[in-house]
Amino acid sequence: MALQPPLLHLVLLLLLSSAAVISSLSHPPTTNVTTISPTHSPSAPTPSSTPTPKTPTKPVSTSASTLDPKQLRALQSLNIPTSKDPCSVRPHIFTATTCDSSKPFRHLLSLTLSNCSDDVTLSLTALKSLSTLNTIQFINCPISPIRFPSELTSNLRTFTCVNSLNKLTGIWLSRLQNVSDLTVSQVSITASGPSIILNSMKFLHSVNLSHTNLTGYLPKHWHPNLTTIDLSGNKLKGKIPLSLTRLENLVHLNLSSNSLNGTIPTTFGDLTALQNLSLASNSLSGSIPESLAAVPGLMHLDLGSNQLNGTIPKFIQDMKKLKYLNLEKNSFHGVLPFNATFIKRLEVFKLGNNSNLCYNHSTLGSKVKLGIAPCDKHGLPMSPPSAKDSSDNDSSDSSDDEDYSNVGEKHHSHGPSKIVLGVAIGLSSIVFLIVFLVLLSKCCK
Ligand SMILES: *[C@@H]1O[C@H](CO)[C@@H](O)[C@H](O)[C@H]1NC(C)=O
Ligand SMILES: *[C@@H]1O[C@H](CO)[C@@H](O)[C@H](O)[C@H]1NC(C)=O
Ligand SMILES: *[C@@H]1O[C@H](CO)[C@@H](O)[C@H](O)[C@H]1NC(C)=O
Ligand SMILES: *[C@@H]1O[C@H](CO)[C@@H](O)[C@H](O)[C@H]1NC(C)=O
Ligand SMILES: *[C@@H]1O[C@H](CO)[C@@H](O)[C@H](O)[C@H]1NC(C)=O
Ligand SMILES: *[C@@H]1O[C@H](CO)[C@@H](O)[C@H](O)[C@H]1NC(C)=O
Ligand SMILES: *[C@@H]1O[C@H](CO)[C@@H](O)[C@H](O)[C@H]1NC(C)=O
Ligand SMILES: *[C@@H]1O[C@H](CO)[C@@H](O)[C@H](O)[C@H]1NC(C)=O
Ligand SMILES: *[C@@H]1O[C@H](CO)[C@@H](O)[C@H](O)[C@H]1NC(C)=O
Ligand SMILES: *[C@@H]1O[C@H](CO)[C@@H](O)[C@H](O)[C@H]1NC(C)=O
Ligand SMILES: *[C@@H]1O[C@H](CO)[C@@H](O)[C@H](O)[C@H]1NC(C)=O
Ligand SMILES: *[C@@H]1O[C@H](CO)[C@@H](O)[C@H](O)[C@H]1NC(C)=O
Repeated sequence: MALQPPLLHLVLLLLLSSAAVISSLSHPPTTNVTTISPTHSPSAPTPSSTPTPKTPTKPVSTSASTLDPKQLRALQSLNIPTSKDPCSVRPHIFTATTCDSSKPFRHLLSLTLSNCSDDVTLSLTALKSLSTLNTIQFINCPISPIRFPSELTSNLRTFTCVNSLNKLTGIWLSRLQNVSDLTVSQVSITASGPSIILNSMKFLHSVNLSHTNLTGYLPKHWHPNLTTIDLSGNKLKGKIPLSLTRLENLVHLNLSSNSLNGTIPTTFGDLTALQNLSLASNSLSGSIPESLAAVPGLMHLDLGSNQLNGTIPKFIQDMKKLKYLNLEKNSFHGVLPFNATFIKRLEVFKLGNNSNLCYNHSTLGSKVKLGIAPCDKHGLPMSPPSAKDSSDNDSSDSSDDEDYSNVGEKHHSHGPSKIVLGVAIGLSSIVFLIVFLVLLSKCCK
């Protein structure tokens, strides 16, 4: 009889721990609660059994703020709450800052404004006070741009503007002469072409002017140290200049969704550092240049939706790093020169809508779904490309009926197995508990 209260406790404890196991298994470990954590509050225990992450809080200084008072006022004028020291709070929902460690006052080095309300206004005074910034980012901040003071532009190395600052002009951007990393995306840029923006930037390493409705032609002159160029989703026209293929440090090149025409320069293989290349959704014609065989690290090749012709070169199969290959919606012809080993290795492979292209069914099996027809003995597509081939004889049991067409769609999360495991553990603990209780009640009688 006297045993009962402690036993009850034990039972409760077991129940609780099994519930905790279930909850920790069915939820992914979402540990980062992005609240603006006050400097020291050891309270607020979350009802979760996951090990609470040790927040690497610095020794909290007793003074209100370590930031330069002028910069503090500038932040306040931008509606940025400063009740917590901007240099020591963890990244905030709307702003993220980093500071230097100078004394007596620290200075801001980077500032990210995101999701700001549209009544925030930039003032020249505020921007002058913020001239220690080397990084400024606007994400979803539909406010009006003003001319940046030269104190700020001379220090600025990274400028990011995504869906922000309403409209920008090429002249406005060309004043950011010292940036090495420029991103302007999802905001329209009025300019005669990219050159007016890029020519003034002598330290540029990465340029991303995507989805900006930029018009004009690709520049003839490029900064030799460029590693990333993303000009996708614009209205650029004309040919791809040969000068672009001299950028031996270029790793990412994305010119997709423009109106480029002419051929792919035969010197493209000079881009030996290239990893990701997209020229998709333009009006490029001619064939894939043989020189591309000399680009050893190519991982992502997207030439889809153009008017490319000729045969598909066999060397593509020897590109050891290739994971993504899109050649769909072109005018390639002849026999696909790839074997099954290569095709299976790719994560994404798209080939459809090349009506004169066919595959050899003795090497790839007779019922592969590549979106193209098998070849006849002359190396021509067997049936007219009436789409939906082989979609009604799916139910066959043939062993070589392999579907390569959805190689890209094989990313399944392993979530369900965790849930099953959690439920299993939960159930077995409940069964265990019941048995335990029955035994208890028997022995205590
Ligand atoms: C949690 O926060 C840390 C530090 O701010 C960050 O490095 C990490 O990526 C965050 N994790 C998640 C899941 O947001
Ligand atoms: C901004 O808002 C969007 C949706 O409105 C949200 O998905 C995103 O996480 C927010 N970003 C930040 C940094 O708070
Ligand atoms: C670029 O930076 C240098 C020193 O880092 C400075 O002398 C120059 O004035 C800056 N240029 C502009 C246009 O701000
Ligand atoms: C680009 O122009 C189209 C119309 O031509 C418009 O619908 C779209 O919003 C513009 N994009 C941007 C980022 O301004
Ligand atoms: C360019 O910026 C957009 C918007 O932030 C981003 O989605 C895209 O991945 C960037 N491109 C590269 C090559 O990083
Ligand atoms: C390119 O980068 C290298 C190494 O970072 C540097 O020495 C060189 O001056 C840069 N070239 C130009 C034209 O800025
Ligand atoms: C490419 O487009 C330009 C105009 O954008 C046109 O003048 C030129 O004739 C086109 N070239 C080819 C090969 O189609
Ligand atoms: C190129 O840009 C488009 C749209 O901006 C994007 O969907 C695509 O993934 C990018 N490709 C590469 C290789 O970066
Ligand atoms: C490919 O297209 C180009 C220009 O569009 C044309 O001159 C050439 O004859 C075509 N080559 C083949 C093999 O069809
Ligand atoms: C480059 O391509 C790989 C493979 O498709 C992809 O995982 C990666 O995100 C791409 N990187 C960029 C910057 O587009
Ligand atoms: C497929 O092609 C690759 C690359 O050319 C080659 O290494 C491999 O041996 C071929 N596999 C078969 C089964 O022919
Ligand atoms: C080619 O593309 C069009 C639309 O872009 C589609 O309707 C058609 O089914 C495709 N044909 C083949 C053979 O994939």
